[in-house]
Amino acid sequence: MARDDMTEATVTEQAIPKVPTLPDAQTVTHVKHWTDRLFSFRCTRPASLRFRSGEFVMIGLMGDTGRPLLRAYSIASPSWDEELEFYSIKVQDGPLTSRLQHLAVGDEIILRPKPVGTLVHDALLPGKRIWFFATGTGFAPFASLLRDPQTYEDYDEVIITHTCREVGELAYGAELIDGIRKDELLNELIGADNLSKLRYYPTTTREESPRMGRITDRMRSGEVFTDLGVEPISPENDRAMVCGNLAFNLEIKELLEGYGLREGANSDPKEYVVEKAFVD
Ligand code: A2P
Repeated sequence: MARDDMTEATVTEQAIPKVPTLPDAQTVTHVKHWTDRLFSFRCTRPASLRFRSGEFVMIGLMGDTGRPLLRAYSIASPSWDEELEFYSIKVQDGPLTSRLQHLAVGDEIILRPKPVGTLVHDALLPGKRIWFFATGTGFAPFASLLRDPQTYEDYDEVIITHTCREVGELAYGAELIDGIRKDELLNELIGADNLSKLRYYPTTTREESPRMGRITDRMRSGEVFTDLGVEPISPENDRAMVCGNLAFNLEIKELLEGYGLREGANSDPKEYVVEKAFVD
């Protein structure tokens, strides 16, 4: 009798699903909307999470079916930061971002604490100058790397290019660069004003700004090198990390290969690395 009861209890327990709770939950601490298409947010960081600046993790929300809806997001904060930051597009009919864009302080997100990615210093051979090429939300991994002291310790010069459709879409990056220039600790490594190791090169393609056009076209014409007063890219001096939309990544890859740079990986460091920016 007792035995039968036990069996029944066990069967019942297995048949009823557990009350859904968010696995790997982290709490949102800050949200900022930059344009009607872009926002960033910060959340708590799991105590056990160690990552290399430039890596991404899977984050998301619980889906309607009770299964987590997760996407790969570059961590935009540097590895020393006690919180985590993410920079996201809002796609109105995107499965995740249509919901993620409504996040408010105190909400929970799911964050799988398994960082991976190729936009890391370990995937590049030593060089003199590093180029970060971004379009749109592809700026995110560089928001992390640009705030990492190692970037300035490893290179004499750091150039970040950011191409967006409209001026408003440059705001997240522009504000971040401004913050870096005002940061006392980073400033010691970077240097001030015209002696600065950090060069910022934003361009827009669909709205008037001081520098118009795709970065790829400005590389082909040589304008970017003239504007910055640097030699054209060479495998001896230059290293590059690329993060943007698919067409952009392919075009930049071709250009970089044309300059003689080879694609590297964590296990096989070379002269450049590429990763796709988030797509919902
Ligand atoms: P464009 O306006 O000429 O398409 P998106 O918001 O669509 O991801 O694009 C972000 C930026 O990347 C836009 O300024 C866009 O320019 C630019 N872009 C798109 N494709 C390429 C490419 N193949 N090479 C360089 N830039 C590109």
